[in-house]
Amino acid sequence: MQTPGNFNEGIDSWKTVIFLYNSALKEVGTKLEILNDEFLHVHQYNPIEYIKSRIKSPESIVKKLRRNGYESTISNMVNYVNDIAGLRIVCSFTSDIYQMADMIGKQNDLTVLWVKDYIKHPKDSGYKSYHMLVTVPIFLSDRVVDTKVEIQIRTIAMDFWASLEHKIYYKFEGNAPEYISRDLRECAGIVSMLDAKMLSLNEAIVEAKAQAEEREEEKKEEQEQMQERMKVSSDESFEIEEDGL
Ligand code: GTP
Ligand code: MG
Repeated sequence: MQTPGNFNEGIDSWKTVIFLYNSALKEVGTKLEILNDEFLHVHQYNPIEYIKSRIKSPESIVKKLRRNGYESTISNMVNYVNDIAGLRIVCSFTSDIYQMADMIGKQNDLTVLWVKDYIKHPKDSGYKSYHMLVTVPIFLSDRVVDTKVEIQIRTIAMDFWASLEHKIYYKFEGNAPEYISRDLRECAGIVSMLDAKMLSLNEAIVEAKAQAEEREEEKKEEQEQMQERMKVSSDESFEIEEDGL
């Protein structure tokens, strides 16, 4: 088995590497769709609202390498830039995130290199999301190449905050005034409250539905027992009438 790091420099290698990352996105994307469909089939419930995927632009790759003090080479790019292939899974509830992460972790052909739980440990900015770095084997005609994919899993509310925060921060190129950062952190707190409220509402609805079903079941059983008793007593009265004859 090979990692993409063994490729030579040059445009052909560049094309091959990007082809591998694109293939990795397809492989992992299909896996996620299957997991979601299976979940829907078994639990009649969709944990994934939507999935976004992207390949990092050459400009962003070079910028990231430079920021981290690396030369712009193909081997540095595959070794040190982990988010060239990125997938974002947007879920309905926080509990779905951990369920998805668990299901991804159990896929035998994926190797989880690391996990960063920014939900349990939010960033100073207020950013919340669950990140996994995985490798997926890409089967070429003459070899198999393990290729990295960064998976970010978050709720719709977390995604809403992160998208807008990114837009706002981008305008300041990372140098936003303190009151903006403070307000953004405050908004992150509101988003977390909203997520917690939505989760408890959903749990309450699931519970209420289960109780209603249970009551319905009990009512059905009572009716059946009643019908059974009525049948027995009418049989008995029939027997008495027969005896009286
Ligand atoms: P990047 O160079 O930004 O990729 O960071 P990293 O390689 O040190 O990894 P990190 O876990 O910090 O971030 C990975 C990704 O998470 C980023 O590329 C963003 O998509 C997202 N992210 C991390 N921090 C923030 C944040 O404060 N705000 C927003 N909007 N997104 C963030
Ligand atoms: Mg990134």
